[in-house]
Amino acid sequence: MEVIESVRRMQERAEALRAQGKTIALVPTMGYLHEAHLELMRIGRRHADTLIISIFVNPIQFGPTEDFERYPRDPEADLKKAESVGVDIVFMPGVEDMYPEGFQTTVSVRKLTKHLCGLSRPGHFDGVCTVVAKLFNITKPHIAVFGQKDYQQLAVISRMVMDLNMDIQIIGAPIIREPDGLAMSSRNAYLSEKERTSALSLKKSLDLAQEMFWQGERDAQKIRDEMVKLIQSYPDTEIDYVSICDPITLEEVSELGDGTLVALAVWIGRTRLIDNKVIEVQDTNS
Ligand code: PAJ
Repeated sequence: MEVIESVRRMQERAEALRAQGKTIALVPTMGYLHEAHLELMRIGRRHADTLIISIFVNPIQFGPTEDFERYPRDPEADLKKAESVGVDIVFMPGVEDMYPEGFQTTVSVRKLTKHLCGLSRPGHFDGVCTVVAKLFNITKPHIAVFGQKDYQQLAVISRMVMDLNMDIQIIGAPIIREPDGLAMSSRNAYLSEKERTSALSLKKSLDLAQEMFWQGERDAQKIRDEMVKLIQSYPDTEIDYVSICDPITLEEVSELGDGTLVALAVWIGRTRLIDNKVIEVQDTNS
């Protein structure tokens, strides 16, 4: 496994791979790798000759009061994990190389970012789109893999790729969870034991929404009310949003149907967690 820190070196390496006729898959990450990241890498591995991952805690997607400084980092452990799933190249640039003096260009997806996390994290998706566009130009992938845990991020990046005619196939990977249902996240490392229990309220409220739908409830407000009640019954929780929305436009809906997205962000103490579920009709065969 090769580790490349320089933007220029990475571009030259990607160009050489393409000249040899190799296909490239990219998995962008901010490191502190966990099993969900590794699953994305396994998917990338299956789809291309060369698997590149990036590890870069991107300062421009964090707000001024957010956790950029204290975001967990463990590059040594990350490299071991990456190697274990057959990563070919780890691209780990420095902040100065990615954002040299004079940097001033932003990629902005206008409408999809006016919902969900975009409302409480102004500028966040501009930071994500800008860094992902840069990573695409640096690593020149044919395929890139993103997780559905960050549903809006996947939607926004897919839109950017379409709108800017980037010749890259975006693959969405299913949410990977801990055995008790908590969606894996690097930020779970912030949780105390007590908070870890409260963090289960996210998945439990999504399950409740699905269950109510199966029981015949279609009214989004009624389902949201019950979800809110369930989350608030756990200590140290503060809801940022609970959204029941169209899976394509992310606009709120008043009635649920097959494929409606239920997405939420909840503060557990000082840690903001997100999760989501696409509502399914009951499988009548089982
Ligand atoms: P990060 O939070 O490190 O996540 C990297 C990738 O892993 C993202 O595509 C994310 O959706 C996916 N992922 C994380 N937890 C997951 C889970 N439990 N199940 C499935 N996929 C999961 O997302 C980012 O970094 C950054 O915004 C980035 C795209 C790298 C741009 O800086």
